[in-house]
Amino acid sequence: MPHLFDTLTLKGVTLRNRIAVSPMCQYSATDGLVNDWHRIHLGGLARGGAALVIVEATGVSPEGRITPGCLGLWNGAQAAALAPIVAEIKAAGAVPGIQIGHAGRKASANRPWEGDDHIQDGDPRGWETIAPSAIPLGRDLPKIPRAMTKGDIDRVRADFVAAAVRARDVGFEWLVLHFAHGYLAQSFFSPHSNRREDEYGGDLDNRSRFLLETLAAVREVWPEDRPLTIRFGVIEFDGRDEETLAESIELVRRFKAGGIDLIDVSMGFSTPDAQIPWGPAFLAPIAEKVREGAGLPASTSWLIADPGQANRLIVEGKVDLVMMGRPLLENPHWPYLAARDLGVDRPAWTLPAPYAHWLECYRAA
Ligand SMILES: Cc1cc2nc3c(=O)[nH]c(=O)nc-3n(C[C@H](O)[C@H](O)[C@H](O)COP(=O)(O)O)c2cc1C
Repeated sequence: MPHLFDTLTLKGVTLRNRIAVSPMCQYSATDGLVNDWHRIHLGGLARGGAALVIVEATGVSPEGRITPGCLGLWNGAQAAALAPIVAEIKAAGAVPGIQIGHAGRKASANRPWEGDDHIQDGDPRGWETIAPSAIPLGRDLPKIPRAMTKGDIDRVRADFVAAAVRARDVGFEWLVLHFAHGYLAQSFFSPHSNRREDEYGGDLDNRSRFLLETLAAVREVWPEDRPLTIRFGVIEFDGRDEETLAESIELVRRFKAGGIDLIDVSMGFSTPDAQIPWGPAFLAPIAEKVREGAGLPASTSWLIADPGQANRLIVEGKVDLVMMGRPLLENPHWPYLAARDLGVDRPAWTLPAPYAHWLECYRAA
């Protein structure tokens, strides 16, 4: 079985190890544009040795952003501003990826450190939210979304395609469709948020329709030689887990038939009443079930911070790639130090020569 520090090739892209930077919103943009902060944040993570750096959830339209500070990819200026980031990630030897999404009923929110709740009605910073049905998430996100018309569904699908084209043309080599975490696509799949009575609601076929149609439309424009992946919430921890997971695995099989190359296994976050069993790598056994059930390469994240544990997930075949978030914020050079901990010889490949050479001399002294 491969090791955490073995390469992974999907389509025409080879990752230098099995560590990816999971997408992490910075809530620091103006008008959806990246700025110096995004450049140093993402460039630093690439330099630290991860193989894949995925740019945060990027709105396919203004109303698809989570907060007014989220990134967007609905115009050419936003794409052009991302070009140096693509180049910087590549200069550090990592693969540049991006996640595109629509926040649905969770949109129009304040930054996490400014409340993490919906922007008050009447505040000019906020906007109308849309969702499959007019059902709010609840608790801190009480705003009632407008139930989408067929016209809205067609428009959002087209927005995903246009964003994917911009991501393709600016040089991203790995695309993640954000179908997780209670945002728009997840909320079509989840019975918590979808009570539609047309062909987009009801049984599994209907609740999957928006996701599969969006995938099919993006598949047509995304290059065959670059990985196309989905982040999907396969479980809600709401007491219906067996049924949800069975449906999820069936849907992931359909994603596979629709042409994706990897599934990133995450949670649904469709109800504030979820009882999530937080603990080190707690989602890995679920990811393994999805990987086996769908016969598709898989990744997962959530509380994977110990190098030995991360390595075991790969060696034991639970996942093909480890997505990491906060451990890399705490220490972007986590991959380099993990290689040392695991006794991987001469980890020069994790750091460019101008660092690796001097660090070797330093350690030898
Ligand atoms: C600051 C921050 C921002 C995040 N933003 C996103 C995001 O844009 N898209 C997404 O799918 N997940 C997002 N997440 C979830 C992470 O990608 C990751 O799955 C989560 O932090 C669990 O991994 P960890 O325990 O290694 O941090 C975010 C997490 C953090 C901490």
